[in-house]
Amino acid sequence: MTVAIIGTGKMGGGMARLLASSGIEVAIGHRDLAKASALAQEIGPKARSGSVADATKLADIVLLATPYSAAFEALREAGDLSGKILIDISNPITPDYKALTVGHTTSAAEEIQKAVPTAKVVKAFNTIFSELLPAEARKGRSMPVQVFVAGDDEAAKKIVSEIIAKTGFEPVESGALSNSRYLEPVGEINIHFGFFLGWGTSAAPVWMKA
Ligand SMILES: NC(=O)c1ccc[n+]([C@@H]2O[C@H](COP(=O)([O-])OP(=O)(O)OC[C@H]3O[C@@H](n4cnc5c(N)ncnc54)[C@H](OP(=O)(O)O)[C@@H]3O)[C@@H](O)[C@H]2O)c1
Repeated sequence: MTVAIIGTGKMGGGMARLLASSGIEVAIGHRDLAKASALAQEIGPKARSGSVADATKLADIVLLATPYSAAFEALREAGDLSGKILIDISNPITPDYKALTVGHTTSAAEEIQKAVPTAKVVKAFNTIFSELLPAEARKGRSMPVQVFVAGDDEAAKKIVSEIIAKTGFEPVESGALSNSRYLEPVGEINIHFGFFLGWGTSAAPVWMKA
């Protein structure tokens, strides 16, 4: 299994390192080939690199790690995503991080699914700060860190959940892709806890059954 990662920033880099350290091959795609190559070299033999289109071709699963505002341009660069799983980790936030630009009657994930109707979009990781991606950053916590997983294709959600479990997070089945309308606000309140209410970036939501 190869996961293509589009973007080499905080989440793209963090997810690429996390997946590779969990034994999953990654293909890093970036508009700047030098940035993609530098990240792949840092990660080692589990990582390859290339353009956004090159990386997408190598993978059945694509993780989009650009800002939501750049998602549609990046997806155009990616090329044909038919039949591929597309993991959307985005929070469609304003430049000051304090509010969402999309919501209530749609979500970033649903808008992305509309743009690539033949891909299987799965929402995940939008409530996790990049600082929590390394396994060491999660050691010693009282509970596993949860990753909420929403999507309309059950098989795709199962595969993404298996990947999440492999990385040491707890996948939480969160229903249809349209539930991203509720997961993205959870991501936004987590940003408020982390950045504006003094909790720091180890903040993460946990849903308890009892
Ligand atoms: N940071 C977090 O803790 C966190 C947590 C949960 C979810 N998220 C979500 O994760 C996504 C990425 O956030 P981030 O914090 O990793 O952002 P970031 O550090 O700013 O990285 C963004 C990446 O996207 C690339 N990019 C920008 N525009 C692009 C385009 N048009 N085509 C191709 N690539 C493009 C950037 O390339 P350049 O280097 O060339 O600019 C960079 O590699 C966002 O949707 C965010 O809401 C972030």
